[in-house]
Amino acid sequence: EQKIILDVDTGIDDALGIILAIKSGQCELIGITTVNGNVSLGKATENTCKILDLLQAGDKIPVVRGASQPLLRPQFFEHRIHGEDGLGGALRDVQVHTQPAVGFAPDFICEQVLAQSGQVTLVMTGPLTNLALAVKKCPELVQHVKEVIFMGGVVTEYGNVTPVAEYNMYVDPEAAKVVFHAGFPQLTLVGLDVTRRVLLNEEHIAALGDTPIGRYVKQSTSDYLDRYFERNGIRACAMHDPLAVAVALDRSLVQTKKLYVDIETKSELCDGQTVCDFQNRLKKEPNMNVCLDVDADAFFARFIGALKA
Ligand code: BDR
Ligand code: CA
Repeated sequence: EQKIILDVDTGIDDALGIILAIKSGQCELIGITTVNGNVSLGKATENTCKILDLLQAGDKIPVVRGASQPLLRPQFFEHRIHGEDGLGGALRDVQVHTQPAVGFAPDFICEQVLAQSGQVTLVMTGPLTNLALAVKKCPELVQHVKEVIFMGGVVTEYGNVTPVAEYNMYVDPEAAKVVFHAGFPQLTLVGLDVTRRVLLNEEHIAALGDTPIGRYVKQSTSDYLDRYFERNGIRACAMHDPLAVAVALDRSLVQTKKLYVDIETKSELCDGQTVCDFQNRLKKEPNMNVCLDVDADAFFARFIGALKA
């Protein structure tokens, strides 16, 4: 069974990623680390704990707090998409029982990875601040991680915060730069190129049934579907973060190519843009696997199957 640490800024889709990882029964989730992003670190942590309560998993999986702000930049929340609380209001009035563990996410990541060398996959679904801090503290980490899979960036299309930047990259591009150049032997970019094609719709939600999880998903995504409709003309919720989790569980869901990718940090218009060198014009060795195609039907078969289990 593969060991995973999931790093999240728990908004609506992060929460669905957590649920998928736990309900899949296909991995050992050794911890969930939280980071500032969609919402503050405090809210991201509380939302994560509430999701563990929902799954009755709070006593099994430690939740460890991480960075409360990006490396250099001010916070940039995404309440527009995820609501004031971060979960589309779904668990707003629910009391939280699970408590975060003591410790700091970058330290937790270093300790766990070194103690289980070659076995731990890091799945990152928020800004990359915690991993950048971990790499800075403990550069040897890079040789001991099995793989890093992150939701972030976009290489063939447009951005979702600025015309060119995806949210997780835009919030902390300096952190992404550290991660991109750290030398991870296996680093996989799950970007908007593929996540935008994996759209949860009302049929999928109905298929989850009238269960606590089914009801939670329906409530939590309801406003998101409306906002998605305003922009795109269909009611759907993009499975950005759950796809990154799913890729960790099943490689065959995506097609990847080894490419060199860097990130812009010093531009008026393009900060956070992931620049992918498809034609090797920079003459650099590829530094990551870039997802370029996805089997959305296979994703939903797996996702719905796991959530109903
Ligand atoms: C990413 O941005 C966040 O709002 C989502 O949770 C996801 O991680 C998509 O660009
Ligand atoms: Ca996220």
